[in-house]
Amino acid sequence: MSYHSYDENLEESTNKWMIWGLVFMAIMILIFPLYLWLEPTTRADALATQNENLAAEGSDLFTQNCTSCHGPNGEGGVGPALNSQQFLATTKDAQISSLISVGIPGSLMAAYSVDYGGPLTSEQIRAITAHLRLWEEDAPDNPDWRSCCG
Ligand code: HEC
Repeated sequence: MSYHSYDENLEESTNKWMIWGLVFMAIMILIFPLYLWLEPTTRADALATQNENLAAEGSDLFTQNCTSCHGPNGEGGVGPALNSQQFLATTKDAQISSLISVGIPGSLMAAYSVDYGGPLTSEQIRAITAHLRLWEEDAPDNPDWRSCCG
């Protein structure tokens, strides 16, 4: 093999690599907008599914721990209605979770967090809050949600 033909072979294989490089780049350029278009939907779907699972767990926990006083659908009873539009609109998730965790001293509303001697982990309380939050969309108009308990 002469020096000359070695050089030609090298050039040929370099060209081949360059062509494949260009093809690859073209594919990436075509795929990138598709990725940008699909990615936020995928993320939003994943978050929505995660939240649904959390709320489903919260639904069971609510039935076991809360319905005796707040009603099966949070319509209230011995305790205030929790499905009130006004309650949900004016209370952030963190406030709801903290009310459940700490309870309301001097009332029937006990502390539910293990940190305060209750039975539930902070994850379980977050799940209950996610469950209550799902009511918000169809929550009845109820400005007197605390009328039960002065
Ligand atoms: C033994 C009855 C009872 C049980 C069980 C109970 N609660 Fe309560 N809850 C009450 C009462 C009564 C109040 C109102 C206390 C007050 O303000 O005097 C209250 C208040 C609340 C509030 C605050 C509402 C507001 O208007 O600020 C939230 C939130 C709440 N409860 C959530 C829960 C959740 C979630 C559970 C289950 C983990 C639960 N409660 C279990 C009786 C109960």
